[in-house]
Amino acid sequence: MAELAVDGIRCCVFDAYGTLFDVHSAVGRHRARLGEQADRVSELWRRKQLEYTWLRSLMDRFEDFWVVTGHALDHAMETCGVDDAALREDLMQAYLGLDCYPEVPAMLARLRELGMRTAILSNGSQTMLDAAVASAGLGDAFDAVLSVDALGIFKPHPSVYQLALDRLGVEAGEVCFQSSNAWDVAGAATFGFNVVWINRFGQARERLPGEPAAELRSLEGLPGLVSGA
Ligand code: LAC
Repeated sequence: MAELAVDGIRCCVFDAYGTLFDVHSAVGRHRARLGEQADRVSELWRRKQLEYTWLRSLMDRFEDFWVVTGHALDHAMETCGVDDAALREDLMQAYLGLDCYPEVPAMLARLRELGMRTAILSNGSQTMLDAAVASAGLGDAFDAVLSVDALGIFKPHPSVYQLALDRLGVEAGEVCFQSSNAWDVAGAATFGFNVVWINRFGQARERLPGEPAAELRSLEGLPGLVSGA
């Protein structure tokens, strides 16, 4: 585990999907219509969504996260034998208003009380992120909501993490980056951020370069961690 340089942290930056927002809440809203296939559709949808971002970056064939999310859902529904255009539309609309994890609002408010700047840095399109933030009632909680749209490449490419430094006017050592996605943790730590892995599902560590400075099961303990309390 790397050392968390608490004294120098000025800004907490968050991955969005899986970290702030529960990606499985979209299927959760339509579970009855998916029946026993619900969990398999949701897991495959998320896996394909991420795979497509990595492959499109490697192929230099960027499409925004809304398009990629739709393609991933199409693949998941076909694989699971679900052929329902209305349901597909409802699932996509649900993705614009995902549930935020229960500890998120109070955690963000506490960071603000501590004088910490806060931002989102996400593969999500700007439209998706703005919708999710508004839907969760977090509209005033962030100093910046940053999408990869302007770059045309997805995480973990270093230019994505550099975007946060450029837009926030901070140095890498002044950032504490939080993600539930261990591959995103590896990318951010390799880039030079202080990183806290929000290991919500007790996953094994990835065998990748870049170590988190701390690991939490939720975001609840983050304010205490970055304030040295
Ligand atoms: C994001 C995805 C990778 O928000 O969780 O960037």
